[in-house]
Amino acid sequence: MNDHPQARGKLIVFEGTDGTGKTTQRDLLGRYLQDKGYPIIITKEPTDGPYGMQIRDLYTHRNKYSREDELSLFLADRREHVADLLLPSLFEGKIILCDRYYFSTAAYQGALGLNPETILTLNDFAPEPDLVLLFQAHLDVGHTRITAGRGETLNNFEQREFLEKVATIFASIKRPYIHNIDASGSIDDVHRLVVGHVIELLQPAFVAAMD
Ligand code: TYD
Repeated sequence: MNDHPQARGKLIVFEGTDGTGKTTQRDLLGRYLQDKGYPIIITKEPTDGPYGMQIRDLYTHRNKYSREDELSLFLADRREHVADLLLPSLFEGKIILCDRYYFSTAAYQGALGLNPETILTLNDFAPEPDLVLLFQAHLDVGHTRITAGRGETLNNFEQREFLEKVATIFASIKRPYIHNIDASGSIDDVHRLVVGHVIELLQPAFVAAMD
């Protein structure tokens, strides 16, 4: 992945299968950091831009799109997100909290049969995150929300099989900045785990002094 040497901010990404509480935790962390005076930006993918809107159409009319079309839409949405928000915010020294990023593309479009490594390579234009929190919980936790949220017509067995593949691909991507988060605990428990990793990223000297 490109690293952008001039960038001074930090990119923190929340990843995982649907319904694991990423968005709740992203927002909680946002408030925590804001209270401490950090300049933060809260964002997500798919975005609310034109490609993001097309992606939402995809969820309701799945058979209109091939998996390649689907991949192209997520990449186009990300290109716009990177150019319009992520890079400018990093240059301004902001801490970006982003709900989903290219690991989701590798995992979800990979689970449709495309090669996850190839998908990661196609994302070379996107800045590498400083920290990825990979939320992991039993698939039953998020199961019903997916059906409701995505308006899919897959049966329960197909959905489960698909999400198992997604989770397996997520777990197979190894990068030094990816940390697993056990998302099965209470909101407070998970928040503490999240904050632990974020403090380590933002104040490494402070953490070392406590050891
Ligand atoms: P989600 O985070 O649930 O967004 P929202 O709640 O705003 O609709 O993401 C929607 C779905 O998009 C989710 O099931 C994962 C999927 N997705 C991909 O398949 N590929 C990607 O690259 C991204 C970013 C998301």
